Amino acid sequence: MKNAIERVLISEKELEEAVAAIGRKISEDYAGKDPIFVGVLKGCFIFMADLMRHVDIDCSMDFMAVSSYSGITSTGAVKINKDLSEIIEGRHLILVEDILDSGVTLNYLKNYLMVRKPASIAVATLMDKPARRKADIYADYSCFEIPDAFVVGYGLDYNEKYRNLPYIGVLKPEIYSK
Ligand code: IMP
Ligand code: MG
Repeated sequence: MKNAIERVLISEKELEEAVAAIGRKISEDYAGKDPIFVGVLKGCFIFMADLMRHVDIDCSMDFMAVSSYSGITSTGAVKINKDLSEIIEGRHLILVEDILDSGVTLNYLKNYLMVRKPASIAVATLMDKPARRKADIYADYSCFEIPDAFVVGYGLDYNEKYRNLPYIGVLKPEIYSK
């Protein structure tokens, strides 16, 4: 598994510090608002688990599962595989994503959820690749801005593999050009 990684882009320690800082910031910004964190599966699962342990205000959590990717290129089409189980009307939503790339997925999700009349929708992402943005969407909370490279680990996959790496690594190009 590790021999598929060209280099470590973000270490475990850097992840830990940045995620804790964002958790503290969200706790300040949302004190008294009882927000609902909506994790976008599967990529968010490690980030969200770590983030939530640094949020020290009343809040709830829910998850959605979407798919848009096959291999390293977005198909552009977003499919909802699991919808929310909570009612979000009047609630403050924080969408939790692993990475904001073209922005197509989050833009679609935001519009999809807006119809249910939440009080607000914010976006918290672990990583942001602004160079590849196609949709007009930005992150309210972002831990790392990264260059245009395909990364895996800490929840992120390449064809469902490497999610279990504890750091963020750049995948060797020969892995996806095979
Ligand atoms: P977007 O719709 O192009 O913003 O794509 C967002 C989704 O694509 C993310 O939630 C990831 O699942 C996936 N993705 C984008 N870039 C990467 C990457 O570098 N590594 C792994 N998954 C990625
Ligand atoms: Mg994803």
